[in-house]
Amino acid sequence: MTAPRPEACVIGYPAKHSRSPKLHGYWLDQYGIDGAYRAEEISTEDFPAFVKSLSEHGYVGANVTMPHKEAALELSEPDERALAVGAANTLWLDAGRLKSTNTDVEGFLGSLDTASPGWDQRTNSALVLGAGGAGRAVIFGLIERGLTEIHVVNRTVAKAAALRERFGNAIEPAGLDALPSLMEGATLLVNTTSLGMHGEPSLDVDLTPMAARAVVADIVYVPLKTKLLRDAEAHGFATANGLDMLLHQAVRGFELWFGSRPEVTRELYEMLAADIEAGA
Ligand code: ATR
Repeated sequence: MTAPRPEACVIGYPAKHSRSPKLHGYWLDQYGIDGAYRAEEISTEDFPAFVKSLSEHGYVGANVTMPHKEAALELSEPDERALAVGAANTLWLDAGRLKSTNTDVEGFLGSLDTASPGWDQRTNSALVLGAGGAGRAVIFGLIERGLTEIHVVNRTVAKAAALRERFGNAIEPAGLDALPSLMEGATLLVNTTSLGMHGEPSLDVDLTPMAARAVVADIVYVPLKTKLLRDAEAHGFATANGLDMLLHQAVRGFELWFGSRPEVTRELYEMLAADIEAGA
């Protein structure tokens, strides 16, 4: 008996702008795997029923994107990461049970490891802008790597303060007004807000006071180089962008569904970068 052809999807609303089908399609071709990956646009109302019948739809697993990541957590058996972050973005069927994880954590960490190998040996402190779902994944990754001082700067301070309850005393909550003073000597700055995204206001922060050899990351990937990242490059800092994170977060899902651990290469980056630049 031959095994069924593995198929996976990204579930979102909207889903048609997702780059994931191109990304996983590239790897399926590259590794000669007879499988498929497609986008499924599913409303919030229909999401629970869809996820509960993934195998009837022919899927061995799925990525989950906006606005379903919290619901995906509720409807599955999450691992420690998904539980800690409070959101799941990768689902797979394991002997009929729906399991989940949050690969945004390793996507973020992988992008930093590539941008600045050994960064976590050089600092125990970070400055994170934003306290939403993406912020929680970034913060959990920083804690996993042993950082002990994470300043979380958010427009709504109460949301940053709530993260101290969730993640412990490493979290130092602050409002946007504290940003200029927190930039003094900062070694790692991560933007997890939508500021700088195509159609949103840009993030205006003076990077001059940052430490030498600082690292700056931005989860935004349209445009690929936000003003923040252009400024960081002008200061000679190492940078990671949202596409780097997207590529690294995709690795484990592909491995779980299709059985081979794929590589994030320059060629893959360039292909998706061209696609983003053409569509932005
Ligand atoms: P995600 O799950 O992608 O992180 P989110 O949960 O909506 O999305 O979080 C968006 C983050 O961007 C929040 O930290 C938000 O700040 P608030 O908590 O105060 O809403 C931040 N953000 C969005 N627009 C912003 C703006 N114009 N100025 C400052 N922060 C902004």
